[in-house]
Amino acid sequence: MNGQFLNLSAYHEADIFDPVSGAEMTYESLCRVLPPSLARLELSTDKSVNIPGEVAAAFSRYRPTPLFRARNFERAIGTDCEIYIKDEGASPTGNHKANSAYFIAYQCKQDGVNLIATETTGNWGIALAMAGKDFGVRVVCFLDHESHIERPNRKLLMEESGAEVVIVEPDESQKVNDPLTLTADAAIDYVRDRDGSYYIFGSVYSYFTIPQSVIGLEIRDQLQQSGRYPDIIVGNCGGGANLLGTSAAFFAGMMESERKVKVVSAEAESCPILSEGKMGLYSVDTRKFYPLIRTYGIEGLKDGTYIGGLGATVVASPVAFFHSQGLVEVNRFSSTEAMSAAEMFYDTEGKLVALETSYAIAAVVKQARENQRKTIVVNISSGETDRQFYTHTLNECRMQFKDERAVI
Ligand SMILES: Cc1ncc(COP(=O)(O)O)c(C=O)c1O
Repeated sequence: MNGQFLNLSAYHEADIFDPVSGAEMTYESLCRVLPPSLARLELSTDKSVNIPGEVAAAFSRYRPTPLFRARNFERAIGTDCEIYIKDEGASPTGNHKANSAYFIAYQCKQDGVNLIATETTGNWGIALAMAGKDFGVRVVCFLDHESHIERPNRKLLMEESGAEVVIVEPDESQKVNDPLTLTADAAIDYVRDRDGSYYIFGSVYSYFTIPQSVIGLEIRDQLQQSGRYPDIIVGNCGGGANLLGTSAAFFAGMMESERKVKVVSAEAESCPILSEGKMGLYSVDTRKFYPLIRTYGIEGLKDGTYIGGLGATVVASPVAFFHSQGLVEVNRFSSTEAMSAAEMFYDTEGKLVALETSYAIAAVVKQARENQRKTIVVNISSGETDRQFYTHTLNECRMQFKDERAVI
């Protein structure tokens, strides 16, 4: 396995500001809210970051994750493009969040952190709970009520790994309508008065997205074995972790004048973070606690469609930067379109995908139909933990949306 992560902050201004004073953050001021090793990483502009030995050892239990060609899916779409699936669902936590979870839990242990509190719509919480257990750090997950209803197995899975789970009820005043901000606020309220406790957000910040770069580095090596290089890379975009993880090696390559790759971000109609987001200074909470970063943000979610982790109203700053440079194409889908694509994928490849991943699958269908003879790669960050949700949804979708398959 490659011994280094990539850091895209080397290629753009990664401004970070104190939410109260507005001053640019230093290592010392950032240490008020982040464990020292994560604060250092957040400010780093080095192109690469060494993977600590114990994190590499955790990765070696499931990495490299499989990369396979989805021939049946290609046939069903009727495309002459080659579609490659990078299966991050093959991690012990069933999704890509494991890559960041092991790294963060390890660094927190090294820094003497007693407790990590986080927000989650389910998947990230499972990953952090498992990694916290492995590295001996207590984890408290704040799960929004809607995700708890939509994904009833998640609380149990987090608890089985020893995490405490707090269900956060919706904001009756409707001031905050997105579950991620709501649960981030609750987790921040929890850590504020507890010594040795830190709040960690499950995407967006560099300390989270940097470890995801292993995905694209592996894809590059795996494709190279058959003499291929991706033309199109697809990810879905919540906070930007899986999109950046899948594409970081290729963005870095383009910045170093290597071959051009089209990066496609699939987003949900109810959270058009790239297509309607405005560049500005944003944080992930309303408590004026976590750092402000220069990136895209949107006011709130557009409607009540359940989109899980795709409902982030702030995106990682490299996504905003590369999008503003014209290097990211955005494909936007309704939940019906995403579900329809997930159904086609399930029928042809026999694999369940996470709700979030279904948007990326819809983008693959669109790209495969619009392009000829291209090599397309998508990261399916999904696994068995989605079975309960998807068995239900796919059955419903089969009956409800049968006639709408052609829309994607
Ligand atoms: C399976 C899966 N995919 C994608 C996402 C979106 O987040 P990100 O953009 O940070 O990868 C999530 C977030 O919870 C997720 O669980």
